[in-house]
Amino acid sequence: MENYIGIGTYAKEWIMTAGKRLKSSFEENLNIETKANANDLVTNMDKEIEQFFLDRITETFPTHRIFGEEGMGKRVTDLKGVVWIIDPIDGTMNFVHQQRNFAISIGIYEDGIGKIGLIYDVVHNELYHAFKGKGAYLNDIKLPKLTKVPISEMILSLNATWLMENKRIDHQILTPLVKDVRGTRSYGSAAIEMAYVACGRLDAYMTMRLAPWDFAAGSILIEEVGGEITTMSGNPLDYINGSSLFVSKPGLHQEILESYFHNSWPAVNY
Ligand code: IPD
Ligand code: CA
Ligand code: CA
Ligand code: CA
Repeated sequence: MENYIGIGTYAKEWIMTAGKRLKSSFEENLNIETKANANDLVTNMDKEIEQFFLDRITETFPTHRIFGEEGMGKRVTDLKGVVWIIDPIDGTMNFVHQQRNFAISIGIYEDGIGKIGLIYDVVHNELYHAFKGKGAYLNDIKLPKLTKVPISEMILSLNATWLMENKRIDHQILTPLVKDVRGTRSYGSAAIEMAYVACGRLDAYMTMRLAPWDFAAGSILIEEVGGEITTMSGNPLDYINGSSLFVSKPGLHQEILESYFHNSWPAVNY
């Protein structure tokens, strides 16, 4: 059993240092490349920040493994032992175009169990943290447990992509829900959107495809405030291959899966 207070202290210190570095990079020219497609951006800073964590972690905790988006650590195919699941910049498109609404996301898992979740919204200087069983915090202020809201008063975070024809779902499935909620939002950073559900700024967030580093920290925060977290079909998330994601305040989840998706979310491509 690891000393999670000690690990968390290091992780918080490193995430703040990495945040400062990201802010200072606004003055520099970015090197921007594309990955899977023309809209899938990666910068020199995504790589530098992941390398920063890799160096610190391997030096301080040589037995821990790193599972990061930019692939700086060794390939990870299981969650045995302690694994740091890291997204060095979640919301790279926002980082490049807006210089805001991006976050560093770190989930620390031991034998597949989420122990520490950290999300740092760098520009707003908001650090969310959670230790398993000890609650979730925003800048060291404890977040209250979430409570149910009616669907008619709900703010749902959802990317417009999923309301247009797409290769993952029949886009019309979401229309009745979008019509019934009070409003929709989209922030372009899954980690921030999960943190916003955890602190009550959003009531739910859903998306058809995410990677483990997008939700590894957020799911620990959500669990600590009593929210619900599954795939779009109500199954556990896949922390190795990624999956769809549906997070919500308590109560909403079951109602939406039953009344809007009829517990029969089509099992295609996610
Ligand atoms: C992306 C963001 C975005 C989500 C994408 C992710 P990245 O992460 O979280 O909000 O819609 O699916 O890939 O690539 O900026 O780290
Ligand atoms: Ca990316
Ligand atoms: Ca991401
Ligand atoms: Ca990223």
